[in-house]
Amino acid sequence: MCGIIAYIGDQPALPRLVEGLRRMEYRGYDSAGVALVYEDSLWVRKDVGRVDNLARAVEGGPGALMGIAHTRWATHGGITQPNAHPHLDGEQRIAVVHNGIIENMNALKAQLQADGVVFRSETDTEIFAHLIRKHYTGDPREAVCAAVKHVRGTYGLAVMFADHPNVIVAARNGSPLVIGLGDGETILASDPQAIVAHTRRVIYLRDREVAVISRDGANVQLVDGSSVGHEIELLDNEYDLAEKGGFAHFMLKEIHEQSESIERALRGRIQVDDGNAKLGGLEMSPRDLRAVARVVCIGCGTSYHAGLTAALAIEDLARVPARAEIASEFRHRHPIVPPDAAFFAISQSGETADTLGAVQEVMLKGGDVHGVVNVVGSTIARTCGKGVYVYSGPEIAVASTKAFTSQVTALLVFTLMLARTRNLSFEQGQRVARHLVGVPDKVREYLADPGPISAAAELVANARYVQFLGRGYSYPVALEGALKLKEIAYIPCEGYPAGEMKHGPIAMLEEGTPVIMVAPRGSQRDKAISNLREVQARGAKVILVHSAGDDELRDMAEISIPVPQTAEFVSPLLTVIPLQLLSYEVALRLGRDIDKPRNLAKSVTVE
Ligand code: M6R
Repeated sequence: MCGIIAYIGDQPALPRLVEGLRRMEYRGYDSAGVALVYEDSLWVRKDVGRVDNLARAVEGGPGALMGIAHTRWATHGGITQPNAHPHLDGEQRIAVVHNGIIENMNALKAQLQADGVVFRSETDTEIFAHLIRKHYTGDPREAVCAAVKHVRGTYGLAVMFADHPNVIVAARNGSPLVIGLGDGETILASDPQAIVAHTRRVIYLRDREVAVISRDGANVQLVDGSSVGHEIELLDNEYDLAEKGGFAHFMLKEIHEQSESIERALRGRIQVDDGNAKLGGLEMSPRDLRAVARVVCIGCGTSYHAGLTAALAIEDLARVPARAEIASEFRHRHPIVPPDAAFFAISQSGETADTLGAVQEVMLKGGDVHGVVNVVGSTIARTCGKGVYVYSGPEIAVASTKAFTSQVTALLVFTLMLARTRNLSFEQGQRVARHLVGVPDKVREYLADPGPISAAAELVANARYVQFLGRGYSYPVALEGALKLKEIAYIPCEGYPAGEMKHGPIAMLEEGTPVIMVAPRGSQRDKAISNLREVQARGAKVILVHSAGDDELRDMAEISIPVPQTAEFVSPLLTVIPLQLLSYEVALRLGRDIDKPRNLAKSVTVE
């Protein structure tokens, strides 16, 4: 989603701003722009399309030592040049880039128009430029503070004044900003990825804080002027610059990293000899675990699917009632938050607005909420204050792959801990632990020989509609497979519980419709066979993901993809991988922009 980068220092700003924008491209955007303070005035370039276009347009631009830049993901107003950021005040002396949404946009706009302001875009952000101008009497910080007091909504802001070529003002409320402290330079960004090439020493701004940034550092205060203390933090190694490492796309690289990323999610956490596990950040003693009467996993998209998978395992192994909730629904429906429930907020980015909103709602109602987050130091991780990092490493492709398997793994570790405080014996605990530590090798084994993915992609690439089916643990996998295919190949498809398919979606099947059936060995396998026959009887062509060695099932499908045999509760960690590869292959055949699919953003920081 939108990205902010601002630079002030002793080097030309423009190349650094463009490089920062490139580092944030993976987040998803549709236009980009830059503003510099140069020779006492503002120099601005912006346009729709890729950062590459902007880079060409600003080649040979001024060597100014400070500037702000932005990648926009349209919310208010279409994808047009005037709507791209930065936005300027009427006199073109103040430039603003903004992430977030102004909720009282209409009222503020009407007031400004009544004052005679003429708007040049349809965005909410332009309001900031005019509002700051209205309150500007010569002090940049005071003007920004006075303006944000009128705004209801979320913002990460960077503001530049042509009159003040030595400072940039930043303000945050609900939309992340991090200040990188370099040697003779200071860089502000909404994503540490845009900073790490220059410095690892950072300050994470908190809500309602305003920073005056100069080449020597930052002065941070609350909006009301009171002072705040900030520790300088060091960016984790996980922010090392993301490279494709010989793969054609980040998505393919990330799919292939899954044996290592799952290993990292398990490392130091499983005690096979004790038949137990430990999650340091969880802050739950066995007594606390025993007191958990139910578990609620909250997330969006792929993270929600990880929650669905975990909920099944928690009920299955720990016999504790568990469910998954879609964050955007949960947060707005006045949810019941029982005091004896353990809530998990699952998020790769740790910045998803809906999941953060759900966390705040749980906290407001006195609930106990833990983060299951990938990005260290992200807003959800900080807001929860306790939880589990999944350590999948930076996930750059918009379509989430390795984060899913790491989230599921981390939650399965929790499941083992929870189950051991209940009805799981020492020996059973050891078995569960062994299954978990055995997963990375099985993933490696599968990826070394992924089966007939190309043949399956051939069948799917020209389809008008595709159905993904699974039962039990394979149902969330079917949902995840369908989400991947939609996201990067744009093929109409849906995931369904295989048993429910005959109550409606079976009507969609016609001669040749590809049906992807996930049916590893386990309690649901035989039932899945009946469903397979039902769809074949309607002319569907079945692509079957099954356990290696299950020859009976293998011979029933048009295309069979074997995955190494595992215990049922860890099977999603294997069966999801052929579906990730399949959507990748299909998107490749269709010439899609795989790492940056249309309309999508990597971290969805608006409601
Ligand atoms: O960063 P999060 O895990 O909170 O993101 C949630 C969803 O936006 C995300 O999983 C989305 O569905 C992905 N693009 C899936 O590939």
